[in-house]
Amino acid sequence: MVYYPREDSYLLEKHVKRLAFGSVLDMGTGTGIQALAAANSKRVKKVLAVDIDKGSIEYCKKNSRHKKVTYRLSDLFSKVPKQRFDTIIFNPPYLPQEQSRRNISIEGGKKGYEVIQKFIDNAGAYLKEKGNVLLLFSSLTNRKMVEEFLNNKMFDFKMIDSIHYFFEELYVYNIIKSPLLRTLEKKGVKDIDYLAKGKRGVVYTGKYKNKKIAIKTKRRESEAVGRIKNEIKFLKILNKHKIGPKLLMHNKNWLAYVFVPGEFIRDWIPKAKKKDLKRVFKAVFNKCFKMDQLGINKEEMHHPVKHVIIGKSVKLIDFERARKTKDPKNVSQFCQFVMSLKPVLEKKGLKVNKNKLIELSKKYKKSFSRPDFTAVLKEIGLK
Ligand SMILES: C[S@@+](CC[C@H](N)C(=O)[O-])C[C@H]1O[C@@H](n2cnc3c(N)ncnc32)[C@H](O)[C@@H]1O
Repeated sequence: MVYYPREDSYLLEKHVKRLAFGSVLDMGTGTGIQALAAANSKRVKKVLAVDIDKGSIEYCKKNSRHKKVTYRLSDLFSKVPKQRFDTIIFNPPYLPQEQSRRNISIEGGKKGYEVIQKFIDNAGAYLKEKGNVLLLFSSLTNRKMVEEFLNNKMFDFKMIDSIHYFFEELYVYNIIKSPLLRTLEKKGVKDIDYLAKGKRGVVYTGKYKNKKIAIKTKRRESEAVGRIKNEIKFLKILNKHKIGPKLLMHNKNWLAYVFVPGEFIRDWIPKAKKKDLKRVFKAVFNKCFKMDQLGINKEEMHHPVKHVIIGKSVKLIDFERARKTKDPKNVSQFCQFVMSLKPVLEKKGLKVNKNKLIELSKKYKKSFSRPDFTAVLKEIGLK
């Protein structure tokens, strides 16, 4: 069904006239209103206008002809040639679906934001480094979710207009690639996606030279740039000893390393068998011993629930709090962790004598010697 221009169309059109430039993609063109507004601007060279609806494309080819505009049938980007645009415009179907049959010109899916999410997930690959996306949606769409989708894809955005229209608020967003996204793309990183959030940092995944990588940066609202710098500093030292994920590239407020596949130790332990537990604990203890020898305290080894990843190998991650010290506590903290697991470990046949372990760990902490370290391992049956 052809969507004849309404308030939302006119609101977006106002900004298209002002901001569209270069080569333009008009997604979900309807009657072609945005495509024509763009084409009539001197700054615009050409426009590709697409729509999933056959009737709309037929309507445009007949009624909205312009020498700069080409119309094409396409479900989002599926039939858009692999090229990058300076401007991408989208007045999407943004309302939650009301009946069992979806009205595709106005409803984006059950939640309302499904089409927008798919659009955002793919838009980066079609947008030039300094391109803009002009996106319209409404208060009925769930603005928080839309902003989350944008953050997940490392876009920066700004609401540039809003109007009240019957029972809803209409918003126009201007979306650009964030400086970090631009830098990473220039370095050849692709398929960037959100992975996880910590207190201060955000981790994304991406593809680099056919390898999966992780990119860690500080959260927008966090001032903790120092943490990133710190992690870079310690990864550089520890990588030489095969500890930590392999650092690939970095800048003052982000770092990228080879992705570590596997499971958090927290989730892995309950399922693990005795012999695997022994192998993993031994590997972690050896890394802790190495860090003790280097005078580096990783911190949090007494509770490394999300800091040890078990995959093909055993890797420690998250070195943002690491620090140099004369009194490192990695081995002794990991002893504490083992002791805290006593009931679980004993069920699996690993004996944990707390008093003995405390005594041996104290002795080790005085000497940091290999024999004292070996005594700790022996006590847990790892030697
Ligand atoms: C709200 S209308 C906007 C039409 C026009 N751009 C305007 O501003 O008046 C949304 C348009 O998106 C189209 N559309 C919906 N889902 C689409 C999809 N997956 N791919 C491309 N177009 C889609 C609809 O057919 C409809 O023409």
